[in-house]
Amino acid sequence: MKGLILAGGMGTRLRPLSHTGPKQLVPVGNKPVLFYGIEALRDAGIEEIGIIVGYTDERIQFLKDSCGDGSEFGVKITYIRQDAPRGLAHAVDIAKDFMDGEDFVVYLGDNILKSGIKDFVEDFKTNGSDISLLLSKHKTPEKFGVALFNEENEITYVEEKPEKPKTDYVITGIYLFRNNIFDAIKNVKPGKKGELQLTDAIKEFVLSEDKKVKATIVDGWWDDTGNAEDILRANHLVLMDLKENIKGEVEEDVKIIGGVEIGEGSVIKKGSKIKGPVIIGKNCVIEGYVGPYTSIGDNSKIKGGEIESSIIVGEVNINFNEKIVDSLIGKDVVINSSENNLPKGHRFILGEHSEVRI
Ligand code: G1P
Repeated sequence: MKGLILAGGMGTRLRPLSHTGPKQLVPVGNKPVLFYGIEALRDAGIEEIGIIVGYTDERIQFLKDSCGDGSEFGVKITYIRQDAPRGLAHAVDIAKDFMDGEDFVVYLGDNILKSGIKDFVEDFKTNGSDISLLLSKHKTPEKFGVALFNEENEITYVEEKPEKPKTDYVITGIYLFRNNIFDAIKNVKPGKKGELQLTDAIKEFVLSEDKKVKATIVDGWWDDTGNAEDILRANHLVLMDLKENIKGEVEEDVKIIGGVEIGEGSVIKKGSKIKGPVIIGKNCVIEGYVGPYTSIGDNSKIKGGEIESSIIVGEVNINFNEKIVDSLIGKDVVINSSENNLPKGHRFILGEHSEVRI
């Protein structure tokens, strides 16, 4: 089997972070979201992976620089360009030559799944279905594709983002297809935004008497990291299983509690407190309090104040005596205290789509 990761989406809901790089490269637990997908495919025994990379040269280069030829993951990666955002079904369609008649997994590049996809893929090899979908219960099904299934786990109905969902089972971004999906995609008509929906191609199989679409329910958690809130939740979920692993230097009189990972070359200064789960990358200098569910990327300098439940992408300089919570802070950000400024007051230099809550 082959794999196809769709990483063409522009990530408008993740601005401003997605202004400077693909949303699929935003880190969760200090690892780009996209890497979780590549690893899930590899761990299911898939060696050849196509990545749909979108259409701007800059973002294509970002993705190529991050994932390379795949050898670091133990897979072979082929990059496939999509000329414009024409929908998921179009993205799958342009990978037809790459699939070369084989069965394949489609994995949306912003999805993270705890349990991996090995069992799901193994089952597809022998279950005789035309399509297998991975479903998960969700509190806001109207934001997703939804599916109903019968006692034999056969899907009987699918609909994309219905206003009044008939079920709270949503279609996760992980699909198993055989080559006949390309015939169904030919019949898909453009939807609301002119895009070709994958759910519409699947619907043709669901409605057909002699085709079988199987439902498998996700074991453990699944997250679609579409917006900042989802990314922070995914960070919680990923860090939950963190084990202590301290490679950097911890000065005297530092309290480290619970699962804390500290990368090479990082220093935790005297008097600091790190309460896990917390992951700190390489070459960081931390002086202050870092609380649960925080990820801090490489080369960050943080002094004073408290940070909790946040993602710091990396290379930041924070010198601030207050508490930062539930925040997503991009690369090269500077946050300084304004205590000694005159006139008194907060000073901001913020780019497009930045968000501040004080
Ligand atoms: C896409 C699919 C939707 C699916 C979701 C999972 O939606 O169209 O059916 O439930 O991915 O992440 P999107 O996230 O592109 O809006």
